[in-house]
Amino acid sequence: MKKEEEMRALLLDTFNNRYTCKGYDPQKKVSDEDFKVIMEIARLSPSSMGLEPWKFVLLNNREIRDKIKPYSWGAEVSLDGASHFVLILARKPVDLQPDAAYVEYMMNDVQHFTDDLRLARKNKLKSFQEDDLQITGNDRAFFDWACKQTYIPLANMLTAAAILGVDSTPMEGFNTQKVEAILIEEGILDPVHFGLSCMIAFGYKNRDHRPKTRRSMAEVLEEV
Ligand SMILES: Cc1cc2nc3c(=O)[nH]c(=O)nc-3n(C[C@H](O)[C@H](O)[C@H](O)COP(=O)(O)O)c2cc1C
Repeated sequence: MKKEEEMRALLLDTFNNRYTCKGYDPQKKVSDEDFKVIMEIARLSPSSMGLEPWKFVLLNNREIRDKIKPYSWGAEVSLDGASHFVLILARKPVDLQPDAAYVEYMMNDVQHFTDDLRLARKNKLKSFQEDDLQITGNDRAFFDWACKQTYIPLANMLTAAAILGVDSTPMEGFNTQKVEAILIEEGILDPVHFGLSCMIAFGYKNRDHRPKTRRSMAEVLEEV
């Protein structure tokens, strides 16, 4: 097989064989090496204007896992058995507005933009948020903009895990208010700067999954 054909086959094979894990073997641990790669893929994920409006929390603490379980119907089996359980936090509007200290930090210390470029980028960010996204002044819509972006590292982590042969579960089946209250009480979440967007677990399955079901290509792709 030619290299391009091999790559295509590998891609299709990876996505056809990636399943949401619905039950983990608590005895089987993901190696440090694999987990490091998965987190590196999350870190390298793209974001709107490169602002990386996220933070990842590896939740090893069993007591806290048990505390959030009653309010996390979609995460029960993962909280019990997954080797690695990651909370994905999204930045609050206070950090993503053009004059925010976090935006200055990102554009200066991380992206290394010059003074002129920073000013231009901040002006662009302002008009983008105000005129195009129309989220300025609407905290919920603003926060959802950050949350939407966290689904990019989420998806990339799912794919990275699948390539490495690690099973995974993406999750948004939890009561945000109740789980956040616990995370705040435990000192894990600073509600001024972050909210809980979604969760992801990694490990090795202890049961078989249903065969994959998807709509046909004709149904999902339209050519105009
Ligand atoms: C954003 C998102 C949230 C999800 N939340 C949950 C969840 O809370 N619990 C769960 O067991 N599965 C969850 N899933 C998994 C979906 O049910 C699953 O991806 C879908 O049924 C397709 O199956 P597959 O991933 O095995 O191909 C979620 C998936 C996505 C993308």
